[in-house]
Amino acid sequence: MAYAAGVDVGSTQTKAVVIDEHRNIVGRSLIDTGANVVKAAESSFVAALAQGGIDEEEVEYVIGTGYGRYRVTFGNSQITEISCHGRGAVHLFPETRTVVDMGGQDTKAISVNAQGEIVDFCMNDKCAAGTGRFLGAAAAALDIPLDRLGPVSLQSRKPIKITTTCTVFAESEVLAWIGKGKKIEDILWGVHKSIAARSAGLMRRVGIDSEITFSGGVSRNVGMVKALEERLEQPLNISEECHFMGAMGAALFALDHVEAGRAPVTRTAEARS
Ligand SMILES: Nc1ncnc2c1ncn2[C@@H]1O[C@H](COP(=O)(O)OP(=O)(O)OP(=O)(O)O)[C@@H](O)[C@H]1O
Ligand SMILES: [Mg+2]
Repeated sequence: MAYAAGVDVGSTQTKAVVIDEHRNIVGRSLIDTGANVVKAAESSFVAALAQGGIDEEEVEYVIGTGYGRYRVTFGNSQITEISCHGRGAVHLFPETRTVVDMGGQDTKAISVNAQGEIVDFCMNDKCAAGTGRFLGAAAAALDIPLDRLGPVSLQSRKPIKITTTCTVFAESEVLAWIGKGKKIEDILWGVHKSIAARSAGLMRRVGIDSEITFSGGVSRNVGMVKALEERLEQPLNISEECHFMGAMGAALFALDHVEAGRAPVTRTAEARS
């Protein structure tokens, strides 16, 4: 059995996926990127191999993606995360035509065709409002772990309106609302709604076509899923695999190389027989 792998070195978390010839995931891993980007890439790859019980030599092609893709020193080539999220999303949900990737640093809206090729894309510029970082700032201000943000926000009965669109000021606005005696869940739901509004604006710039697939780590936040669905007035495709979408897309591109590398050999063998 031949294997291919994708390593998505994100600004916040590094994801690795190993797939077999049938495009099944046989090993994966998720770690914090941290300061040593080269090490994060290596460690996540090694962990994904270990999970699948696979030797490094059995992996025929590795593609790096994400902001640290050029630090995947053991990789064979690199592809942008936009292309990888598009490819991964259409593989997982074939009817996908719009992808919204919310990561730790950036939010990207991507328009794709039925083959998973990029038609158009748009990302938040230098500003982190409407991204995972904005959620991180709110979580820090409220002293709540990231994975509790969504469940707590869903308990809101009287959401407050967050007016700041700047991550730098998000923390102080959240603290100001606490000072006014507002409930944590109502503040948090307001934060989620504000991010959903910003993200929907980004998506409108590439055109919102159904189906929409939500990828990146923030797709694990149930509050963000609900806030975006309400804003867009339609359901989103999500699954546990969505955090690994970029790595999965990279692994699929890597498998293309494995298959392309084999084709001439097969033809030569056929010609000789
Ligand atoms: N279990 C979880 N619950 C809620 N949020 C989560 C969870 N796990 C991760 N996140 C969010 O996802 C973010 C990381 O997502 P992801 O791994 O897609 O980012 P990245 O690829 O490193 O960033 P970027 O694409 O912006 O460079 C975290 O910062 C956090 O906000
Ligand atoms: Mg990413």
